[in-house]
Amino acid sequence: PTPIAVLISGTGSNLAALLRSSEEPSSPFVVVGVIADRDASGLEHARAAGIPTEVIRLADHADRAAWDQALADSVARLEPQLVVLAGFMKLVGPPLLEAFGGRIVNTHPALLPSFPGAHGVRDALAHGVKITGATVIEVDAGVDTGRILAQVAVEVRAEDTEHDLHERIKAVEQPLLVEVVSELTADRQDGSATAS
Ligand code: GAR
Repeated sequence: PTPIAVLISGTGSNLAALLRSSEEPSSPFVVVGVIADRDASGLEHARAAGIPTEVIRLADHADRAAWDQALADSVARLEPQLVVLAGFMKLVGPPLLEAFGGRIVNTHPALLPSFPGAHGVRDALAHGVKITGATVIEVDAGVDTGRILAQVAVEVRAEDTEHDLHERIKAVEQPLLVEVVSELTADRQDGSATAS
């Protein structure tokens, strides 16, 4: 199977979905390492599966550029064909983009190009949209500006809190991410994130 690296910051429900899918005998991909920028609780999913984990904290580095380089070096050591940002809450810098350009995907809890950034669910609620969703994109140098690979819509309910809405988005986001990663790793053994 095609090796993928997963980057997380949070609870790792999307990571868990990828791990579950990768354990199926027919899976086109295998998770070879999980990297976080903090002590993310989601790292437990990787540890439980016996997959190498690493935490690369911005605070442990001289500056942002040093952290960007350390992150890129750690990802490169895993030799993945595809890098999956699954709730990774930092922008990836030039070193990672140069090494893996076109082979990094990100999942976002809104219908891009609406509501990019760190608070996609909160911003959609605040704007009063009736439909939001999840988007998987190819990562470029911008903030959630990359090419859209897949999207799914979720209805907003009048009584929704940010938490409720995010949970319903995650329920459809996880299979969407698994589907995109499966397609990219099965169809493109070179790992290019070009949609098929
Ligand atoms: C996901 O909903 C993902 O789309 C979002 O963080 C959540 C992580 O959940 N990412 C962003 O907001 C990126 N801007 P998880 O840790 O349970 O997978």
